[in-house]
Parts: sequence; C-alpha cells; structure tokens
Amino acid sequence: MKILITGGAGFIGSAVVRQAVAAGHQVVNLDALTYAANLENVASVADAPGYVFEHADIRDRAALDRILRAHDPDAIMHLAAESHVDRSIDGPGAFVETNITGTYNLLEAARAHWLARGKPAGFRFHHISTDEVFGSLGPQGQFTETTPYDPRSPYSASKAASDHLVRAWHETYALPVILSNCSNNYGPFHFPEKLVPVVILKALAGQPIPIYGDGGNVRDWLYVEDHADALLTVLTRGEIGRSYNIGGENEATNLELVQTICAQMDELHPQGAPHADLISFVADRPGHDRRYAIDPTRIRTELGWRPSVTLEQGLRRTVDWYLTNRDWWQPLLDRDGVGTRLGAAE
Ligand SMILES: NC(=O)c1ccc[n+]([C@@H]2O[C@H](COP(=O)([O-])OP(=O)(O)OC[C@H]3O[C@@H](n4cnc5c(N)ncnc54)[C@H](O)[C@@H]3O)[C@@H](O)[C@H]2O)c1
Repeated sequence: MKILITGGAGFIGSAVVRQAVAAGHQVVNLDALTYAANLENVASVADAPGYVFEHADIRDRAALDRILRAHDPDAIMHLAAESHVDRSIDGPGAFVETNITGTYNLLEAARAHWLARGKPAGFRFHHISTDEVFGSLGPQGQFTETTPYDPRSPYSASKAASDHLVRAWHETYALPVILSNCSNNYGPFHFPEKLVPVVILKALAGQPIPIYGDGGNVRDWLYVEDHADALLTVLTRGEIGRSYNIGGENEATNLELVQTICAQMDELHPQGAPHADLISFVADRPGHDRRYAIDPTRIRTELGWRPSVTLEQGLRRTVDWYLTNRDWWQPLLDRDGVGTRLGAAE
C-alpha cells in the first residue's frame, strides 16, 4: 500500500514511518519541519525503496493538492499537529491553524483526490487523535469510544474540533475515514520538552526534576512502538467510520512514573544516585486534567491488538535509548522554548 503520512518527522509519526517501511509499504512522509520535527528520526529509512519526504505545510492547500496528485496514495495517516499542551496555553493560535484549519485542508484535498480517482473502495483517511478530547476522569471509570467529548485545554479542544470535522466528512461526503484516540506515548525519539525525556535528561544532568502540582495526575502510558503497531492495525483492519481507543493498560501517577525512571537511572547510570532526591514539585499547569484512562476493549476484541510491553519494560528501553543517543537529543535542547517553563500563564 502507498501511505501518505503527515507529521512523519515527529515523535509518533516517525515510528509509524519506520514500521510502515519495514512492513513493505511505500511511504510519502509529509512534514512542515516545525521545532518539534527531526529528520534524524527517519534517517534509518531515508534511502529505503518507496520512501519519499515532502516538505510541506498542511495549512497550504495547493501544496497538498500537488503532493496527492504527484504520489497518488492509497491511504492517508494524519498525525501532523501542534502537540504540546503547555505551548497551547501560551500560544493557542498555532493549534487552531494547524490542528483545525490544517485538518480541514487535508480533508478537502483528500476528498478531491478520492473523487478524482473514482472513489476507490480501499481508500482510507486515518485521523490520529488523543484521549485528551474526553476531558478529565475522577478516580474511577475509563474512556470508551462513546464517552462524550469534553476537551479542556486549547490543545485538546483543537484536536476535538479536528475529530468532529473528520466524522462530518464521513457522514456528509462518505469519505472513508477511521479515527483513533490514544493515551500518552513515550519512547525513543521523544522531543525533550515532554515529561519522560525531561525526567531522564534532568536526572542525567543532576538538575531538579520538575513535577507539576502534587504529582497525582494519572496517565495511561503507551510505548510509542506499540502505538505505531496499533495504528497500522487500525489502518489495515479497522472498520470505516469507526473509532478505536488505544491504551497501554499502564496507569500511573506522574509521581510513580518519575520514581520508576529515577530507580532505573540509579541502575543504568549510578552516578548521581539516588536520582529521586532531585524531584521538585512546581506550580501546576492551569486546567491540568486529573486522570485519563482508556478502555481498550474494542481494539482488543475486534482487531486482536494489545500492547506488547509493560510500562516498566518500555521505560527501561527508553532510559537506555536516551543514555546511548546523546547525539540525537543534545542539539534539540537549544531549540526555541526547550528547557523553560511553558504554559504557566495566568
Ligand atoms: N504524544 C502523545 O502522547 C500523543 C498521544 C495521542 C495522540 N497524539 C497525536 O499524535 C500525533 C503526533 O503526535 P507527536 O507526539 O508525534 O507530535 P510531535 O509534535 O512530535 O510531531 C508533530 C509533527 O507534525 C509536524 N507538523 C506540525 N505542524 C505541521 C503543519 N502545519 N504541517 C505539516 N506538518 C506539521 C511537525 O513538524 C512534527 O514533525 C498528533 O496528532 C497528536 O495529537 C499524541
């Protein structure tokens, strides 16, 4: 299959690109190369047969039309987005433009492409979204595919809006879409402004490890390679018009997560142990959702998919990867805003 993957130079998109190429698919990687992108993430497949990179912005409709005409993909996996909640608090405009208007452009370009090709039966538009669209849970319960949307940050509101557009293009124009909503990812190639790499790199540097609020916020952590595997499963075997919740079956509070990473750092990098002494509680994120948890029954029962690693196993691989890949992350620490407190706005 020839798959156009948007956001393929980012964290999750690059994992999907690498796995899709390894599975024998042809891949067109479309990415605007924002601050969050890194072509090193896909360096291992850059010379693979059937892999092409297109430097383009999903806000640019003409570029999307040109790329779809030139490559004629059988499917689109849409991951390009502004993805950092803290940045969405400081600058929501970019989130509205890319996540909402950009998705609208891509839907319209995809619809024109699908119509021009005579509505091929196998065509798919797979929209990749987040569990954050469902809002915040109390101590009990899990998000299912029918949980009402209740986004609470500019990021999650923009993703929710994009999900609604994708569903509307299916209902109104019969565009063959599939959606997936996923919990928090972690793993190699994660941009060093997100919690897991921040903790590893602060511990490595012997600097305070910041935890927002009381550290009691719960997330359902999913290893990025497992997410990429789930996405290719949904694309190839999912049912048109349906959405799938993807979770790691690995709930942990932020404090538990950080303590696990610190314990692994004590083992893998004993200098500076005990690293948990570096934990430092800082002012909470405004509107910080308390708990997310995914009910993965649908993807498990209908598509037979389950995560392959526990949180402990995935974190160990991740810590190990950061310890051996300084050349990858060191230059990223100089990018705009990295290492500063974002999203603490009044
Ligand atoms: N990270 C998570 O835990 C998580 C969880 C669930 C869902 N998601 C979703 O998965 C997708 C990928 O997330 P990620 O963590 O890999 O994000 P990321 O920030 O690492 O990567 C996003 C990529 O999109 C590109 N991009 C941004 N704006 C663009 C534009 N206007 N045109 C073209 N490309 C553009 C960037 O250059 C970057 O390569 C997003 O849609 C996100 O909402 C993420």
